Amino acid sequence: MYVNIAVLKETQPHERRVSLVPSVVAKLIKLGGKLHMQSGAGEAVKLADAAFEDVAFIADRNALVADADVVLAVQPPALDVIDAMKEGAILISFIYAGHQPALVKRLIEKKITCFAMETIPRVSRAQSMDALSSQSALAGYYAVQLGATHLRRVLPKITTAAGAIGPAKVLVMGLGVAGLEALATAHRLGAVTEGYDVRPETQEQALSLGATFVETGVDASGKGGYARALTAEEKAKVAAALTEHIQQSDLIITTAAIPGRPSPKLISKAQVQGMKAGAVIVDLSAEGGGNVEDTVPGQTVEVGQVTIVAPLNVPSLLGEDASELYAKNQYNLLALMMKDNIIEIDWADEILAGTVLTHAGKLADHSAKPEADAKSGSRHAAATPTAKVA
Ligand SMILES: NC(=O)c1ccc[n+]([C@@H]2O[C@H](COP(=O)([O-])OP(=O)(O)OC[C@H]3O[C@@H](n4cnc5c(N)ncnc54)[C@H](O)[C@@H]3O)[C@@H](O)[C@H]2O)c1
Repeated sequence: MYVNIAVLKETQPHERRVSLVPSVVAKLIKLGGKLHMQSGAGEAVKLADAAFEDVAFIADRNALVADADVVLAVQPPALDVIDAMKEGAILISFIYAGHQPALVKRLIEKKITCFAMETIPRVSRAQSMDALSSQSALAGYYAVQLGATHLRRVLPKITTAAGAIGPAKVLVMGLGVAGLEALATAHRLGAVTEGYDVRPETQEQALSLGATFVETGVDASGKGGYARALTAEEKAKVAAALTEHIQQSDLIITTAAIPGRPSPKLISKAQVQGMKAGAVIVDLSAEGGGNVEDTVPGQTVEVGQVTIVAPLNVPSLLGEDASELYAKNQYNLLALMMKDNIIEIDWADEILAGTVLTHAGKLADHSAKPEADAKSGSRHAAATPTAKVA
């Protein structure tokens, strides 16, 4: 006996990641997996089919998933993939159910057991499966690299016979996983770094990375380690405290997010107008509309003398490393349910119970789990009635 695993080639525009990499193949086989992959699935990250030993390649994706017990993907698959899957099979990918009502409906109709990677509970035991964290860390690093290439000056102090230049000032706003990685990267590159977040516990984290912390006197810690939205009064207080720091910075990286809500606006048009000539903002929150009033998601724009870079799907720009980490995240999740060549799901396991989106023709009800609810309730929101997972 073995578990038939099928890996899809991603089809969404600009998606370069793949959910299986050669270093994970032997581990999945050891768990009892028989591996099949769609032809060319690794092409975008220069992984030819020949790089995958002991994996069978199938060109037609519907034929690929027809016999699969488990389907692995990065982005939510197309509806016809779900139609082609076996009833009761498992799908593991990012889903963002609130944006995918038709997909969720189809998963329920087809009785697919779907685990949504963005809802892995943020508990210590799940850290090795936490794809939001692994992908955000890469995005935080890449934001500094992107910002540095748009700046017309260096980040570190450089001394020459003609005199010394630098270092540049880098301000990171939003100190979750991506923001802390951005702070660490900018510090390593020799910039003078400052961090800001509405959760006061991030102050110590910023200081430990060699940065100073901008105090605004506003605490917006929300449930489950995430931030809450600010009131109008709090926003004004924060803006007043931040303006000077924004206007002294050469590079600003914004990463602020509130689960289930549009990105909070942290930098106004007026603040951009007052920034240094040649300054650069990299807005990592473009997917949710951006942290800067002038952000145009997916584009790089010049506003006066300031450049605002707002890339979409940043982890995909580092597709090779992002795939490596994502494939390991998925492997670690699968290892919770695969043993001795069979799949056995223990619904008492808080990670599996907290990550499942649909099972046995029903939408998972996470309302009984306050911790998971606080973090992912809005991400689970779908246009279908809720029912308990069996
Ligand atoms: N396994 C684990 O225990 C685990 C793993 C990863 C993250 N976490 C925790 O989860 C939480 C969220 O991390 P994330 O990277 O997903 O964050 P996120 O992407 O949800 O948000 C990024 C940051 O933006 C901040 N933010 C929101 N509104 C803001 C505003 N108006 N101004 C300034 N900053 C604002 C948030 O506080 C957060 O730090 C953190 O507490 C993190 O430590 C825990």
